[in-house]
Amino acid sequence: MAVERTLTILKPDCVRKNLIGEVTRRIQEAGFRIVAMKMTRLTKDTAGGFYAVHKERPFFDELVEFMSSGPCVPMILEKENAIKDFREFIGATDPSEAEEGTIRADFADSVGENIIHGSDSVENGKKEAAYFFSEAEVVANKA
Ligand code: TYD
Repeated sequence: MAVERTLTILKPDCVRKNLIGEVTRRIQEAGFRIVAMKMTRLTKDTAGGFYAVHKERPFFDELVEFMSSGPCVPMILEKENAIKDFREFIGATDPSEAEEGTIRADFADSVGENIIHGSDSVENGKKEAAYFFSEAEVVANKA
């Protein structure tokens, strides 16, 4: 299996609930290597740009409001089969449909405030990683 990178964001609800440590521990325990990480606060513009694909959806304004409501923690993670494995690890978008033991099932309150992001394809992972990090901010973190 190919080594892939995925972009995750510990969303503002994750930070507000003091779950940065717990979620990061689980990410590392599941075998994902952190190769870039920062704390930042999105503006409405940068949140809207990140979710531009959803701009015609009814939930877009609320999503932008939420994502810019406080600090978040984007990270680039590396692992074999990272994209699919991380999507399984975080669980379904709607936490009421997420598998038991996943991050969203354990910690998320609603579909709108669902704790964590994970890229849905290798191509989007690359674009999303470049949205948050320069090449110089990505470091080798070997297994
Ligand atoms: P989406 O890309 O469909 O889900 P995922 O985050 O699992 O890749 O949607 C992006 C975000 O938009 C999602 O994490 C939360 C928000 N959202 C809503 O608020 N309501 C909705 O009905 C959907 C589908 C998403």
